[in-house]
Amino acid sequence: MNRATAIAHPNIALVKYWGKRDVEANLPAVPSLSLGIAEWRTETTVTWGAAFDRVFLAGEPAPAAFALRVSRHLDRIDPHRPRCEVETHNDFPTGAGLASSASGFAALTLAAIAASGRQATRWELSALARQGSGSACRSVPGGWAVWRDEAAVALEVDWPVRLVVCVVDERPKPVGSTEGMARSAATSPLWSTWLATAEGDVEAAIAALERRDLEALGAICERSTHKMFATMFTATPPLIYWQPVTVALLHEVQGLRARGIGAWATLDAGPQVKVLCAAADAPTVAAALAPLSLRTLVASPGGPARVVE
Ligand code: PMV
Repeated sequence: MNRATAIAHPNIALVKYWGKRDVEANLPAVPSLSLGIAEWRTETTVTWGAAFDRVFLAGEPAPAAFALRVSRHLDRIDPHRPRCEVETHNDFPTGAGLASSASGFAALTLAAIAASGRQATRWELSALARQGSGSACRSVPGGWAVWRDEAAVALEVDWPVRLVVCVVDERPKPVGSTEGMARSAATSPLWSTWLATAEGDVEAAIAALERRDLEALGAICERSTHKMFATMFTATPPLIYWQPVTVALLHEVQGLRARGIGAWATLDAGPQVKVLCAAADAPTVAAALAPLSLRTLVASPGGPARVVE
């Protein structure tokens, strides 16, 4: 077989990854914990052996920068590879803080390895995906995933929480996460605190997961998110990924909690707000946040990346 198709789900970090301890190897400065999103996915087909490298995104020739990242990732998978054709499709916005690079590099890694006829363990696939995009390593195991070093591993936790995803702006982010991380690390006076407190946040989050304590997990999630944004706001020049409606949504989430509904927000390098809550509260949370959003989606935990054909 020289052609394979893989599917991967994006993941949203509840304890955030922001910063690299090794830029070349793409190793994280801090550990992170994420949840996969079942309702969204990237599907990627790789044909190993073509006249020249060709990359299609949603049926169209991909922009040059995107195609270059794909070719470079294939070179990492096999430096002596033949030329390849890659077709990829996301059923959600690309490059807008909705973790399309996570599902994208996870699906690309699985499809390329399968198309090349090689075998790899899930750990090896996660480590390869990490080199394309850090958060992609968490989309390989999917579900609840912890990433500390070379690869992410799944936590065997069956807990059907929900993430209410509020899409407020679908334009690509103005500053990419690699550049944003480097700027925070180089210039934020809060950087050492961010590094020093991350392991404690992950450990507390895992303990909260094990006892199914949503209130504790939600509080850690918000704290990690706000610490990450604190390093962005205090960078020089400051990184401001939020829009006015982002702040309005954060107030609404606090309002829900004041009314006794468990809801906790997280955001990535973009203005979209993702709200952790119990499955039973998701309709109420979504109804409260929908008037402020372009779209809301109630997301449930997604599984691992997989080869489908
Ligand atoms: O995988 P990257 O390089 O796009 O970094 C993603 C970083 C955040 O989304 C902001 C946080 C995270 O842990 O996913």
